[in-house]
Amino acid sequence: MTKYVIHGGRPLFGEIEISGAKNAAVAIIPAALLVDGVCRIENIPQISDVTLLLKILQELGADVRTVDRTTVDIDCTHIRNAKVPDGMARQIRASYYLIGALLGRFGSSQVPPPGGCHLGARPIDQHIKGFVAMGADVDVSGGYINARAQDGRLQGGQVYLDIVSVGATMNIMLAAVLAKGMTIIENAAKEPHIVDLANFLNSMGADIMGAGTDVIKIRGVDRLNGGAYSIIPDQIEAGTYMAAVAAAGGEVRIKNVIPKHLDCITAKLVEMGVEVEESDDSVLVRRDPNRRLNRTNVKTLPYPGFPTDMQPQIAVALCMAEGTSVITEGVWDSRYRYVDEIRRMGAKVQVDGKIAVIEGVDKLTGAPVQACDLRAGAAMVIAGLAAQGTTEVDCVHYIERGYEDIVRKLSGVGADIRVVVTPDEEKTQASVG
Ligand code: EPZ
Repeated sequence: MTKYVIHGGRPLFGEIEISGAKNAAVAIIPAALLVDGVCRIENIPQISDVTLLLKILQELGADVRTVDRTTVDIDCTHIRNAKVPDGMARQIRASYYLIGALLGRFGSSQVPPPGGCHLGARPIDQHIKGFVAMGADVDVSGGYINARAQDGRLQGGQVYLDIVSVGATMNIMLAAVLAKGMTIIENAAKEPHIVDLANFLNSMGADIMGAGTDVIKIRGVDRLNGGAYSIIPDQIEAGTYMAAVAAAGGEVRIKNVIPKHLDCITAKLVEMGVEVEESDDSVLVRRDPNRRLNRTNVKTLPYPGFPTDMQPQIAVALCMAEGTSVITEGVWDSRYRYVDEIRRMGAKVQVDGKIAVIEGVDKLTGAPVQACDLRAGAAMVIAGLAAQGTTEVDCVHYIERGYEDIVRKLSGVGADIRVVVTPDEEKTQASVG
C-alpha cells in the first residue's frame, strides 16, 4: 500500500516542468504498429499507462529500446500477430487504440475490452461504427473484440460521429491511414492530442488533413516509414498544477507548455482571481494566499471547452472560493465520486446528476481520503496542499497512471508531501526528495 501524506496550508513557490501528454502518448505508442521501421518517440511521460502499453507492444513482438528517460525506439516491423494477450490490455482504457492500429496494419485484430477509470458507461460504439464504415466486421466473443476487414484490407469510408469522441476520432484515424482510399470523419473531436497523433502519423508518411477541426480527411497510403517525433506537453498535467497554485496560493512558473492549449483553463482561473502570465512555452501562475478565490460556474465540454479531465481539480479549488459555484459535467455520466472524499475535509458540495453545487468554505481540513480515479486523485492532492493539517491520500496508483513524478514536482515548489509505503500495516517511510 502506498499513500501520499501531505501537510497542507503552505503556498507553492518555484518552477515545475511539464511532461509529455499522456493522452497523446497512449495513442502514439500503438500508432507505431503501423510503421515499417524504427519510430523514435521523444518526450514520453514516465507513467504507468505508458509502461503498460510498451509492454503490450513487446508481448506482440515489437522491439522496444529505451534511449533515455523520455525517449524510446519502437520497431514493429517483425510483428506478425494481431491478437493482444488478455491481462495488461484490460487494465487501461487506451488499449482500444490497438484495435484501430492492428486492424489498419493486418486487416484484423483481436483485443480484450478496455479498462480504465470508472466514469460511468464508457461505450466504444462510435469506434466500431467507424471500422464498419471502412468495411470491417466487428463482434465480441470469447472475451475479445474481434475485427476483420472483409477484403483483408480496410477501404476508405465516411463516418459521422453521433457524439464527439476523442477515442473514436483517434482510433478511426489509426485504422484509416493504411486503408485503400479516402476516409472522412465528421463531427470529429479537436483536442490537442488529436492534432498530435495526426502530426506523428503525417511525419511518418501518412496523409491526414483537418486534424483540429471537426472534419478530418485521411487519404490512405501503402506504408509508413520510420522517423522521430516529440510528443506535445500535457495540457491536463499543466492545468492540474495551475489549479494547485489557485487552491494553495503562491507563485509558480509552469514550464514546457503550449499556452494556447491552456486557454480554456487559464480563462476560468482568471475569473476566479488567479493571475496567469503567458510566455512562449511557460505560464506564471500567481495567487495571493491571503485572498479568497472568486466563485464561478464551470461546464465541461469537448475541446476547446473546459476539459472534463480538469473538473475535479477546479472543483476542489472552488470549494474554498467566496460564494457558491455550479459545475456541470458535460462529458461523463459519473465523475463526482470524489465528492464524498472532499466532504470529509469540510467541503460543502451537493450533487444532482451531472450538476454539483459548491458552497465555498473558509478552509478545508486534512483527513484520510482516497483517490477514486486518476483526476479525482490529483484533486485530492490539491485539496491536501490547500487544507490545514495532514491529509493522507490512499490508492495513489490511480494518480501514477497519469502524473509523472507528482511528489517530486510538488516537493520542488515547497509542498510538504511524502510517499509512505505500508507493507503489512507496518509503515516504512520512503524519501521522495
Ligand atoms: C478520452 O477518453 C480520455 N482518455 C479521457 O481522459 C477524457 O476524459 C476523454 O477523452 C474526454 O476528453 C484517453 O485519451 C485515454 P470520449 P475517451 O470517447 O476517448 C461517449 C483521463 O483522465 N462515447 O471522448 O474514452 C462517452 O461515454 C481520461 O486522462 C460514446 O457514447 O472519451 C463519453 O460520454 C479519463 N460512444 C463521451 O462520448 C463511444 O464510442 C466522450 O468520450 C465513445 C464515447
